[in-house]
Amino acid sequence: MKPVRKAIFPVAGLGTRFLPATKAQPKEMLPIIDKPLIQFAVEEALDAGITHLILVIGRTKRAIADHFDSNPELDAILRAKGKSEMADYLSTIIPKSACAIYLRQAEALGLGHAVACAAPLIEPDEPFAVLLADDLLEGETPVLSQMVAAYQQTGRPLVAVQSVDPSETGSYGIVDADLPLVGQSSRVRSMVEKPTPDEAPSNLAVVGRYILDGSIMQVLKDQTPGRGGEIQLTDGIRALIETTGVDAFRYNGCRYDCGSKLGYIEATLAHALRHPEYGPHVRAFMAANYTESTK
Ligand code: G1P
Repeated sequence: MKPVRKAIFPVAGLGTRFLPATKAQPKEMLPIIDKPLIQFAVEEALDAGITHLILVIGRTKRAIADHFDSNPELDAILRAKGKSEMADYLSTIIPKSACAIYLRQAEALGLGHAVACAAPLIEPDEPFAVLLADDLLEGETPVLSQMVAAYQQTGRPLVAVQSVDPSETGSYGIVDADLPLVGQSSRVRSMVEKPTPDEAPSNLAVVGRYILDGSIMQVLKDQTPGRGGEIQLTDGIRALIETTGVDAFRYNGCRYDCGSKLGYIEATLAHALRHPEYGPHVRAFMAANYTESTK
């Protein structure tokens, strides 16, 4: 079985839910306190042993490439000010053992199309990960590492899932599978992109972490548009069910849907409350200003 060394980050979406903040900057650069969402996802991938970070970018996404490039001018200023710890940190976000590759998705034709843009970089029998940076996933063991461990056991592609309220199935890819125990998988029988609650085979939703097989690239290239007139990754994965088989993996951890304002606020609040320096102040501020009004 080949190791999972490559990860695709589709970051070409327009981020319309966060306008005006995302008019001129990528939604993946929105920070949780001081770290942009894309960096959380990149660090999760690096933790899982990924060495090739493939970022599929679009217009207005230059800031993402700039973020991971070295910045000699800033480095010199930080060192002159005695802030070499920060300078060292910034220069090792992507360690020398890994590389970032930037591809352009010339047209916004859907998530499946964005993933297929990386086809020339993936062997037909090579596993690869996909991470959607606006899903911020946190676990004691990083979620992609949990998934790589599960993949090493079975050699089968897998998608991260969680249960959602049945009224929310229209926002997710939904799998037809038995609910696995936390940290375990079950076989996917079918998969459908954003079904209405009536059409949904279950309330097990795919969240933005996948380990897929290179054979999906040809499937995606030949695929016709699906839900919303877009080339859907879910439709491509459904084809893998017949060939490699696909597992639904119930990760151990929590998810913040930072593609929505509420999820983004929750993530920010959770991080602020447990921040070693600011956490106590945030708690005191909340207690002083909000306890009475929330009773
Ligand atoms: C995408 C996928 C969907 C998945 C979701 C997870 O949808 O198409 O299958 O459940 O990510 O966040 P999007 O949120 O980009 O509309």
